[in-house]
Amino acid sequence: MSTAGQAGGVPVLVLKEGSSRSRGKEAQRTNIMAAKIVAESVKSSLGPKGMDKMLVDSFGDVTITSDGRTILDEMDIQHPAAKMMVEVAKTQDNEAGDGTTTAVIISGELLNKAEELIEKNVHPTVIIDGYKKAQEKALEILEKIAITVDLNSQDYAKKAAMTSMASKLVAEHREYLAEIAVKSILAVAEKVDDKYRADVDDVKVEKKTGESVQETKLIQGIVLDKDVSHSGMPKRVEKAKIALLDCPLEIEKTEFDAKINIESPEQMEAFLKQEENMLREMVEKIAKVGANVVLCEKGVDDMVQHFLARKGMLTVRRIKKSDMEKLAKATGGKIVTNLEAITAADLGYANLVEERKVGDDKMTFIEGCKHPRAVTILIRGGTERIIAEAERSIHDALCVVRDIVEEPKIVAGGGSPELEMSRQLKKYAETLPGREQLAVRGFAEALEAIPTTLTENAGLDPIDILSDLRARHEKGEIWAGIEVVSGKIQDMSKAGVYEPLAVKKQIIKSATEAASMLLKIDDVIASGKMRAPPTPPGGGPPGGGYPGMGEY
Ligand SMILES: Nc1ncnc2c1ncn2[C@@H]1O[C@H](COP(=O)(O)OP(=O)(O)OP(=O)(O)O)[C@@H](O)[C@H]1O
Ligand SMILES: [Mg+2]
Repeated sequence: MSTAGQAGGVPVLVLKEGSSRSRGKEAQRTNIMAAKIVAESVKSSLGPKGMDKMLVDSFGDVTITSDGRTILDEMDIQHPAAKMMVEVAKTQDNEAGDGTTTAVIISGELLNKAEELIEKNVHPTVIIDGYKKAQEKALEILEKIAITVDLNSQDYAKKAAMTSMASKLVAEHREYLAEIAVKSILAVAEKVDDKYRADVDDVKVEKKTGESVQETKLIQGIVLDKDVSHSGMPKRVEKAKIALLDCPLEIEKTEFDAKINIESPEQMEAFLKQEENMLREMVEKIAKVGANVVLCEKGVDDMVQHFLARKGMLTVRRIKKSDMEKLAKATGGKIVTNLEAITAADLGYANLVEERKVGDDKMTFIEGCKHPRAVTILIRGGTERIIAEAERSIHDALCVVRDIVEEPKIVAGGGSPELEMSRQLKKYAETLPGREQLAVRGFAEALEAIPTTLTENAGLDPIDILSDLRARHEKGEIWAGIEVVSGKIQDMSKAGVYEPLAVKKQIIKSATEAASMLLKIDDVIASGKMRAPPTPPGGGPPGGGYPGMGEY
């Protein structure tokens, strides 16, 4: 091990005992191997014909999904290089919301090509430079071929949302859910200068088991997964004036234990009376400003609930902080932290606040808010697992619609943009000198992994189809791709399979970034607890030392 040097015959130890180190080609090979294994593992879930995965965590909880990011998150990957693939999926998800599987596959393929080049003695720095050039060119090509859409027609956004859900468990409901996604994003979108901005987090998502995914509804307002706190309170208040409170409506316990000596029943009564008065006072303060609905983030004492009920005020307690913020935005109210300071101007407004039965539970609906930009998607589904996957799919759809609203440009899918980038990059490579040319060519070939995988997952022969597709692109059919439902080569823009340009651009960026970062590493130093990745025997998978990777 090279963690020790010699100084005048005395060995110098730099690292702690038990540390290990692998460097040079050996380190590169193991890192690439680990990352490739991860990419390989998500391949089968790409596209509408891709398979789902059943993931079981250490508690035995089961997740069924085909969402790239969720798969990698749940796999609990330990290998440091493999973890970088998880990062790719995360970056992709955070930036664009869809395309996580594609990004991981391309990243793995870029590393695969790099490995071949390293074997041919092309230095990693040259590969990284070549990849960077190829990335820039690829983004340029994408911009050039993208179709600009008119936001007045919601058709493209809807079709793109449908594409994003085509590969999910809820695919049969995709048309209906896509409409909900489009309406929600358009409801929360804001026009800033000439552009629209939309925040997916502004769309509130609530879930309730029961019925079917088809019963998922878009509600113009906020839905709280809470019931009205007291049976004597009204369950429905029209023209609601809402007090939003962030202070407990109860007598707070002191931080220190205190002891009061009560010597007579009268004293006891006086003490309780005093407490009651304080609580009554709280209710009076709220009533005085004219509120008829109280939405409270903290607890509400039983006695206070009783007083509020007597005043005919609908009250919901222990509301999540994030929901309180949404409520404030929606109703135009202000969250009050000190009851002493409450004024009529702090109250929010909604046409209707009502408790309704949803499935076996009761939920509170705040509808017709002052601010019409508040919407909630209430997801229904037979089992929790379906609901969880429906939520992930709706999230992807919302992100896709947001991407298009913010940047109204789309490309067609089915591997067509990847093939077009690949074709043009191969031409571009020819203009470059020797080794760089090899790297750009490698990049171009890596992109073909997407049409290839889509084809393979549909049970078709990728060799025939790929050569046919290449020929068509050569003839100028830029949207020629594989429509996997019919199993035929088709003009994907006519097949209505659209994806946001933003997703595709981000895929190229996240994939190249991660691959380059891994290629730059030529030294892995693992301290004590974790061993450095072992060299794969004859290029085989790394074994041992890394829980979570052993099964591959
Ligand atoms: N009908 C179709 N025919 C061919 N390809 C399709 C069709 N519908 C969608 N696709 C393609 O499927 C791919 C998307 O698959 P999928 O949604 O499984 O992966 P992802 O978007 O990369 O990752 P994730 O959705 O897990 O974040 C895109 O390349 C898209 O063009
Ligand atoms: Mg997708």
